[in-house]
Amino acid sequence: MALAHRSIVTIDDVSVEELFRIFEVAERMCVELRSRSSIHHALGYLLASLFFEPSTRTRLSFETAMHRLGGRVIGFTDASMSSVAKGETLADTVRIVASYADILVLRHPREGSVRAAADHSPVPVINAGDGGHEHPTQTLTDLFMLHYERGGIDGLHIGLCGDLKYGRTVHSLLRALRHFDVRLTCIAPKALQLPPEPFSPGQKVECTENLEEVIGELDVLYMTRIQKERFEDPKEYERYKGTYIITPELLERAKPDLFIMHPLPRVDEISYRVDTDHRAVYFGQAAYGVPVRMALLLLLLGLEDSSDLPPPPPPQVEYRHDFRCSNPRCITHSEPYLAPKVEVRSSGEMRCAYCQRFASL
Ligand code: NCD
Repeated sequence: MALAHRSIVTIDDVSVEELFRIFEVAERMCVELRSRSSIHHALGYLLASLFFEPSTRTRLSFETAMHRLGGRVIGFTDASMSSVAKGETLADTVRIVASYADILVLRHPREGSVRAAADHSPVPVINAGDGGHEHPTQTLTDLFMLHYERGGIDGLHIGLCGDLKYGRTVHSLLRALRHFDVRLTCIAPKALQLPPEPFSPGQKVECTENLEEVIGELDVLYMTRIQKERFEDPKEYERYKGTYIITPELLERAKPDLFIMHPLPRVDEISYRVDTDHRAVYFGQAAYGVPVRMALLLLLLGLEDSSDLPPPPPPQVEYRHDFRCSNPRCITHSEPYLAPKVEVRSSGEMRCAYCQRFASL
């Protein structure tokens, strides 16, 4: 099956061959954007942009991408103005919008919400961030930048720093990096280190709390903000905010060709004094969101060929009525009509098929 008409719920839905096909089309989009020549590619197509959580870059770059392709956009940025406020379920909202539009982009605070949406949609659904679970199109943007500007991803030493527990961008990034020969260092306070779920079997990372000690070895420093909205106890957030701050003084220890990346928004983790350093690439990184999302829209709408590419093997899924996900942030707890499902991996490992939290039956 080609990329055409498929949903992208996790970055695992994209095989490495498909990743490079997305990059190929995105490179062409970079050129076409300069000459404004992409305007007819998606003429007559409609994107629905459903944002149940705040967003600047993701929503606007998806909408810009569709407009730049000549398509049109409908949607909402405030679910309290939709029928959700009257008690409509996510499944019903999605079914209706999917009967109006050709493709859906969804951001939602619940983990696994986009899986649930894709299960109820006859048209592709793209995950624009589902709680602390994943943000696959940010990863496509991040990897495209490294591919395009750095000439490749293999061989890099990448440091992931900040809130690795709740940061969905690093969860998708870690998953995608298993396809590449990279050295990975996770820099976070112990309580905010990566949870076990995003790791692939055999994937190794080094962990530290000390950024100063490792910054000099890194080729890429991927900063993230402490995810205030995901903490149950606001005191915990207060404890960790400001743990890491990139300053010109700290950067004196870093390589001259370091890439300082950040999915943005930044809060206090990168000093404004760093913005003029040639190593600060985060604003350019955000700009790549447009050509990458243009490429993805074209491929998923079937307007670019991807038929000869091997898709990733689909996970084996079992409906288990004796299963209840232990993750309180999982969509199955707020949308109780969803049938409990587990993903069974070849290793025997089981996960909730929505939020992908490890399951014990
Ligand atoms: C990120 C997100 O929403 O997960 N932002 C983005 O989409 N570029 C990062 C964040 O909010 O910290």
